[in-house]
Amino acid sequence: MSVISQVSKKVEASAPGKIILFGEHAVVYGEPSLVAAIDKRVRVKVARASNKTRIRSNLSVKDDYRYVKKAVELVFDNLSKKCHLDIDIKSEIPVAAGLGSSAAVSVATILAVSKLLDGELTKKEIAELGHRTELYVQGAASPTDTAIATYGGVLYVQPKKKKYTRINAALPLIIGYTGIERSTKVLVENVRLLREKNPAIVDPLIRGIGRITKEAKMRLQRGEDVGELMNINHGLLEALGVSTEQLSRAVHAARQAGATGAKLTGAGGGGCMIALAPSNRSAVAEAIEGCNCRSFDSIISTKGVRLEDA
Ligand code: PMV
Repeated sequence: MSVISQVSKKVEASAPGKIILFGEHAVVYGEPSLVAAIDKRVRVKVARASNKTRIRSNLSVKDDYRYVKKAVELVFDNLSKKCHLDIDIKSEIPVAAGLGSSAAVSVATILAVSKLLDGELTKKEIAELGHRTELYVQGAASPTDTAIATYGGVLYVQPKKKKYTRINAALPLIIGYTGIERSTKVLVENVRLLREKNPAIVDPLIRGIGRITKEAKMRLQRGEDVGELMNINHGLLEALGVSTEQLSRAVHAARQAGATGAKLTGAGGGGCMIALAPSNRSAVAEAIEGCNCRSFDSIISTKGVRLEDA
């Protein structure tokens, strides 16, 4: 009896995607970032399999399988247990859009597999294993995406200390998705090369982004608008070479339509932009769509990684 229930046990976990409000790229060099979880999730269902591990997914990028495989391996090592698995992934988050699908898939896999094997990982351990998964697959990665996928809400991330401070902020954001997939790894590498060639110019830009992020945290804690800081942050990301014409057009169109601020979000090179629009929401959404982007309301999710009814 117990063998049958063991074999048929299924565990499902989900984790949210994210948008980076401030600090992308600079966070790779130790500066802080501000990040928010969104109400689009990845769900990972796992069960023991008898003879080999199988992964099924509606994610189109095979790269995501690398995150899943590494996440599983790290859980096996952590719990000193292993088995074959049936893994089913369903994602509402567009891949390679800068909305954190790989972090969400990694973190949800870690919780689901650890529960299946009767392990009890703390959120801190899940975030840490998630970060190690991203580091392994991407080479360079800050703990931003995996921390927010684990904890949810809005976080101020201090990467060197691995300290995550929860911020209570209402952020009436609109996301514009260019539909263009891009590689975070390539964009991070491009910034590294730019910095290597021009350290005296690029280092102050990176520190400037860090200053903006610290200021944004204080303004958010005082309930103030951070649109102007988003605009300055976008300018510095352009200087780092990670914006595109389409992203910057959407950013400017959103501002003209009444957003208090707008910037690209995530690694850039395509992917998404965000606009802060406490009013004029439909005009801002229309302006973004006029730049060949899909727009959707970004609702901040307070729910980090969690178990679902399998
Ligand atoms: O996950 P993306 O594509 O939104 O970009 C992550 C943000 C970077 O700062 C560029 C990289 C990182 O590891 O923090």
